[in-house]
Amino acid sequence: MNEHVVLFVDDEPNILRAIQRLLRGEPWRVLTASDPNEALDIMRRTPAQVVVTDQRMPAMSGVDFLSKVREQHGDVIRMMLTGYTEMTIAVDAINKGEIYRLITKPWNDDELRATLRQAFDHHDLKSEIKRLNTVSREQNFKLQDMNRNLEGKVRERTKQLAQKNQELSTAYIQTIRALAEAIDAKDHYTRGHSERVAVYASRIARHMNMRKELIERVYFAGLLHDVGKIGIPDAIITKPARLNNEEYEEIKKHPEIGARILEPVEFLKHIVPCVRHHHEWFDGSDSGYPLRLAADQIPQPSRIILVADTMEAMTSDRPYRNALPLEAVVRELHKYSGSQFDPKVVEACLALLEDEGETFIARNQLFDIHAFLKG
Ligand SMILES: [Fe+2]
Ligand SMILES: [Fe+2]
Repeated sequence: MNEHVVLFVDDEPNILRAIQRLLRGEPWRVLTASDPNEALDIMRRTPAQVVVTDQRMPAMSGVDFLSKVREQHGDVIRMMLTGYTEMTIAVDAINKGEIYRLITKPWNDDELRATLRQAFDHHDLKSEIKRLNTVSREQNFKLQDMNRNLEGKVRERTKQLAQKNQELSTAYIQTIRALAEAIDAKDHYTRGHSERVAVYASRIARHMNMRKELIERVYFAGLLHDVGKIGIPDAIITKPARLNNEEYEEIKKHPEIGARILEPVEFLKHIVPCVRHHHEWFDGSDSGYPLRLAADQIPQPSRIILVADTMEAMTSDRPYRNALPLEAVVRELHKYSGSQFDPKVVEACLALLEDEGETFIARNQLFDIHAFLKG
């Protein structure tokens, strides 16, 4: 704590001398000035915590002097030592908040000392509160800063993680896609089949007002739906003629094999059932496989993929026949709506075909699922 300094201002030298004498034994440094301007000079050089002034002085009134002190040294405790004749002025000054306390002349020694002590205490308390406020404000700033940094770091890490996940998932999808393409490419008749099925299916899904998340699922499931054909002998896949029963039984294993390939991958877990059930029939009949699920038991993406798959297969050349016209697809969809196909999917697909005709199945369409979901 700084040295305690009190400054007395009075134009009567006797009073100043008496005060010096009175306070000799106190632990305070006592300064005096016989003129308010001199007092202001002293205060600029020597910080005082308490100022005590007379009211009636030739150069400047005590109230005016104290209001200058207030302007220039806001923290200084201001008091008045005044005779009864100037009481009203002094009381007025107290009421206006200009003065901390009033001491009357002639003063009582003990009272004067006690009042000064209180004034110093008051000053110290005020400056301590101010200091603590500053400290806590600074700490708050520091805390806010730390929080901001922390938030920033967390955000940054989350972003990096999300990016890594995105990269991983992109890399994986690319691998799987390459796999699907490789399978399609085993037989030049089915080249691009998976991609086209994925595109048709996504567009049907969007026409059915499915949620974006589900449309994306339809797309990836579409890309991967035949991935299990990797486990089917090439001779069956590329057979340039219709399959016999035995071969057909073999090919019926591909949804299950595909599901098994995808199963270990956490972020493809929603796609697995879509792949597993893309050859179920809507009516749950024996023609469907592997589990002969019916209606709502079949994942909706699978029901959509089945329609897209049929449409793609029919409109592509096969070793044993040329591509069929769209009318044949329309007939097929009508014929098997409710048995093989989900009528709602058929309805959406027919609406799209009606709107878009041949362009719906145009080859080599540029398709970006993320742009598609935004559009
Ligand atoms: Fe399939
Ligand atoms: Fe297929």
